Amino acid sequence: MHKTIIEPFRIKSVEPLRRTTPEERRALLEHAGYNLFSIASESILIDLLTDSGTAAMSTEQWAAMMRGDESYAGSPSFARFKAAVQGIFGFRHVIPTHQGRAAEHILFTVMCRKGSIVPNNTHFDTTRANCEFRGAEAVDLPIPEAREPSLVHPFKGNMDAERLAALLEREGRERVPLVMLTITNNSGGGQPVSMANIRAVKEICAKHSIPLYVDACRFAENAYFIKLREPGYADKTPREIAREIFSYADGCTMSAKKDGLANIGGFLGTNDDLIAQQEKDLLILTEGFPTYGGLAGRDLEAIAVGLNEALDEDYLNYRIASTAYLAEHISREGVPIMQPPGGHAVYIDARAFLPHIPPAQFPGVALAAALYVEGGIRSVEIGTLMFGEHAAMDLVRLAIPRRVYTQSHIDYVVEVILEVWRRRGEIRGLEITYQAPFLRHFTARFRPHSV
Ligand code: F0G
Repeated sequence: MHKTIIEPFRIKSVEPLRRTTPEERRALLEHAGYNLFSIASESILIDLLTDSGTAAMSTEQWAAMMRGDESYAGSPSFARFKAAVQGIFGFRHVIPTHQGRAAEHILFTVMCRKGSIVPNNTHFDTTRANCEFRGAEAVDLPIPEAREPSLVHPFKGNMDAERLAALLEREGRERVPLVMLTITNNSGGGQPVSMANIRAVKEICAKHSIPLYVDACRFAENAYFIKLREPGYADKTPREIAREIFSYADGCTMSAKKDGLANIGGFLGTNDDLIAQQEKDLLILTEGFPTYGGLAGRDLEAIAVGLNEALDEDYLNYRIASTAYLAEHISREGVPIMQPPGGHAVYIDARAFLPHIPPAQFPGVALAAALYVEGGIRSVEIGTLMFGEHAAMDLVRLAIPRRVYTQSHIDYVVEVILEVWRRRGEIRGLEITYQAPFLRHFTARFRPHSV
């Protein structure tokens, strides 16, 4: 075996990157009120805002798209999509949606009512919002290790099984219509959940006859971490591991924009006939007929191929290695990051990076702005701007789009981060000049703090 892990693809179609100067970027940033969401993507050199919907599709996916059958009802594209999903996930009912949050909305509308409680290792923000929109309470039960950025643990995404057991003992199935596990745990740093934890959570749920649903966005990356880190799984394929994961689940929500390697799409899976019927009824009202659910036939085809490609071992090896490569090359120079690095992203600890900037002056936003001015890199703050003054951490997420950037792009990102690290003392805090009443991080505007 050679030790260099190469990109397991070659490039057939390229998209040029547009360069800008630091002066141009400074002006663009000021005009955007220091909010990178407001900068046009043509003025971004390396876009690490999200790994969602940003994957490069394969020749097989593009070829499959030509087979897309756009019939309103009964399209063979849906049959291929359903077969691909069932081949991995195994659920009796597969309900397509335009993206993950639409699946969440339908799931909670059907399964929850006012006063319900939904435990999760950590709800992603759209999951929490959809749960609360229904009047239910979203409860996060991560293991205590998850809250310490520098602590290394192989499965930092695990749910605290004892706290779950106590909660279910106390509230029972009258209050708790379902339990969820998010794999990998995005809000907790892209950390995986172990098979042992999934099994333990399932056992606790089964004792109370409560169904277990998996937020499966990054299921392939989670399966690969299990292969690498959990005893007994080294010789299993990611597909076998994924099948075992979902054998413990009663249903799932999925955003195909992540491990579906597609640019749009999602689905809801369940083994419950009654729930599925209610979900399909609601789907017709909000998304579309159950054989397309808000997607074009060609989207269903791209997802059918993408789900299988995401389980390819060469691909997963390169994927996890390239994220770890970025993490290692900055952390060995002292840049504080969430340890160990997750599958889809590296999270910089902005409070530790910029100790001279108090949380009230948005160290994460200031750091993301500095990375943009220095090298045209777009990242996203996950901290005081996103969660208000209750944010436990100020992180800057560098999410890696799938199959999009090469190692030299990542080397460039390392170089830019290290340059900003050397000059961190010059970075100043920010103050808000405009904010929306909710989800303010998308549109807030800033200026440099006056003192
Ligand atoms: N669940 C998780 C764990 C997610 O990371 C996301 C999206 C969703 C659900 C919602 O899926 O976007 O298709 O509606 N995460 C993206 C991100 C937006 O940047 O992490 P969606």
